[in-house]
Amino acid sequence: MTRTLALITGASSGIGAAYARLLAADADFVLVARRADRLQDLADELRKAGAAVEALPADLATREGIAAVTARLGAGDVRLLISNAGAGGYAPLIDVGPAEIDDLLTLNATAHVQLVRAALPGMLAADEGTVVTVASLLALSAGQTDPRMPRRTLYAAAKAATVAFTRTLGHELADTAIRTQVVLPGPVDTEFDQGSGQTVPVAMSAEDVARAGLTGLRLGETICVPGLEDRSTALDALLAAETAVLTGGRRSGLASRYQQP
Ligand SMILES: NC(=O)c1ccc[n+]([C@@H]2O[C@H](COP(=O)([O-])OP(=O)(O)OC[C@H]3O[C@@H](n4cnc5c(N)ncnc54)[C@H](OP(=O)(O)O)[C@@H]3O)[C@@H](O)[C@H]2O)c1
Repeated sequence: MTRTLALITGASSGIGAAYARLLAADADFVLVARRADRLQDLADELRKAGAAVEALPADLATREGIAAVTARLGAGDVRLLISNAGAGGYAPLIDVGPAEIDDLLTLNATAHVQLVRAALPGMLAADEGTVVTVASLLALSAGQTDPRMPRRTLYAAAKAATVAFTRTLGHELADTAIRTQVVLPGPVDTEFDQGSGQTVPVAMSAEDVARAGLTGLRLGETICVPGLEDRSTALDALLAAETAVLTGGRRSGLASRYQQP
């Protein structure tokens, strides 16, 4: 049986490492993250399960790091891209400096787009490929006012961009063999944002999130919300709300409340 070559970012811990472990029987890997020692440890473990593994240390908050990974994707042999690396950087916007803003948006939004763009030519040429981005339920949190939620302007913006990007791309690729999926986990028990001061009362395991994503792919889910029971009702309602605003607002005339002298 041919083994799929999977490139997983954020593979040095948490959800990315969980994906790799679940795929080890059927896939070979390019593992990406900054911590080379962690990548080597996971590579050794996956090799014992029979996988061929390349470790590619890279900082995806930098243009150079993204370029190293897009260069590897340019070889055209990756058939499964799991673009998962991310960081919270939770803080009020006023406390975040310009360089940090750039880093967080590069890691949490731009890197996904650049990596997917670099993976597509090889997948399209092979007529086979799967693109997974890991976003967050916080992508849908802009309207929430609960003060116990993290200070998340940049994170929510970047994750919302990732959701919109992946969903829209899925439609753009509808006539191809490339499948897309965006995963929106709720709180997950990983190393993510330790020390943020936020208490997370319930957290899913990283393995369950990865298992949901992979099972969701088999079910044809382009949007995977691991903890959401009544998926179709909720996502239908989301689409209906989006459509109401989009179609209702797309008129040449002003809404009546703006027509006062
Ligand atoms: N945990 C949650 O509650 C939760 C909820 C919803 C969504 N998510 C999303 O799930 C994804 C995975 O997070 P996780 O929960 O598994 O957390 P994690 O255990 O902290 O893993 C994050 C991974 O991203 C990598 N990473 C962070 N910054 C990087 C950088 N600048 N360049 C390259 N790699 C970088 C980390 O590796 P290095 O440090 O070695 O670089 C690590 O492998 C993230 O996109 C996160 O936003 C998490």
